[in-house]
Amino acid sequence: MRTADIIALEQQYILQTYSRPDLVLERGNGVYLFDMDGNRYLDFVSGLAVNALGYGDYDVLKAIEGQAAKLMHVSNLYHTVPSARLAQKLVEHSFADRVFFCNSGTEAWEASLKFCRKWGNTTFEKPKYRFIAMNNSFHGRTYGSISTTGQPKYHKGFEPLLPGIDFADFNNLASVEKLAGDETCAVLVEPVQAEGGVYPATPEFLAGLRRLCDERGMLLVFDEIQVGLGRTGSLWAHQQYGVEPDIMTLAKALGGGLPIGVALLRQKVADAIKPGDHAATFGANPVSCAVALTVFDKLTAPGFMAGVKERSDHFHARLHKLVQRWPEQLKEVRGRGLIVGVVTEKPAAEYIAAFRQRNILVASAGPNVVRFLPPLVTEQSHLDEVVDIFDEILRQS
Ligand SMILES: Cc1ncc(COP(=O)(O)O)c(C=O)c1O
Repeated sequence: MRTADIIALEQQYILQTYSRPDLVLERGNGVYLFDMDGNRYLDFVSGLAVNALGYGDYDVLKAIEGQAAKLMHVSNLYHTVPSARLAQKLVEHSFADRVFFCNSGTEAWEASLKFCRKWGNTTFEKPKYRFIAMNNSFHGRTYGSISTTGQPKYHKGFEPLLPGIDFADFNNLASVEKLAGDETCAVLVEPVQAEGGVYPATPEFLAGLRRLCDERGMLLVFDEIQVGLGRTGSLWAHQQYGVEPDIMTLAKALGGGLPIGVALLRQKVADAIKPGDHAATFGANPVSCAVALTVFDKLTAPGFMAGVKERSDHFHARLHKLVQRWPEQLKEVRGRGLIVGVVTEKPAAEYIAAFRQRNILVASAGPNVVRFLPPLVTEQSHLDEVVDIFDEILRQS
């Protein structure tokens, strides 16, 4: 079968929810992907912030092999070794006291929304069930997730949405304060809005949210599904702000390419949750958890995060120079660590196609933002190559 045959099969049999370029990817190695025709691509998408260690990491493969041979699935009716060890590790490296395992980002977000409401509805004299979510946010595609996502394009045609959600402006504390009422159980925020266009929160905003939540008896929930686990140059994005949440969601990079989602919570929230309140058949899958342990150990190994920070500082500095050099085509560089958005005058799709023609894969974050999400193991030479090629594309456009 050839590329065209596979694309024709997909188009005939798969529900058409995605629009994709004419590219069939077959294998990966390090920071490179290869298509069916043998073309090599430098990958600056990482499966949408998933493949932090790139492709074919030896330790990840060993973890899959070892655990798959032992046990792949038994359900949550029983205890298993990898999930217990991973839970301990996540708790020891975070603000949290407890974790809940599921299979994806949107599931982790749904679980968090349920935990917030259960806490709010059972902890106080009167029920607290409303959420304050942010305009321009993104939290996934299930109903709770789209209902708390502050972008109307994800709602259209799917109404009615979940009730009890108010939207404030990101980085505008006064707009959150105005909405915080006796019935509000939680404030929901991405420390860096990723899909919405790569907008980092300001330190004042996150610190202000923490203060407000403490004063008004609300939970602070951070969605670090895209920006957690080293993507921003620190293990958790919120570490750079010195502000801790009450709940945090993770997914993407943790599974090293296998599906996993986690909601991490403080004990005060855990106290409101009883056996039977929530569940997932595949949650805490032994293979996903075994791989996650390996990924986590590698991300937290001495020097790993410092390397990400150093290389990303270099990348940002070079991109800033590019913006100065091409002021009519580029407006701004935003982001933290290795989630970087470059705001373009022309549609981002044009640059993405130009990069692809030159065998580099990049993503967008909205209509006018080119988003770079390289594997965290990307070397400086790869970052330089992408900036040089961007420069060439800009010169020719
Ligand atoms: C911040 C954030 N939350 C939630 C999600 C949803 O995750 P998933 O696609 O694994 O359901 C995403 C995915 O892009 C995300 O970036």
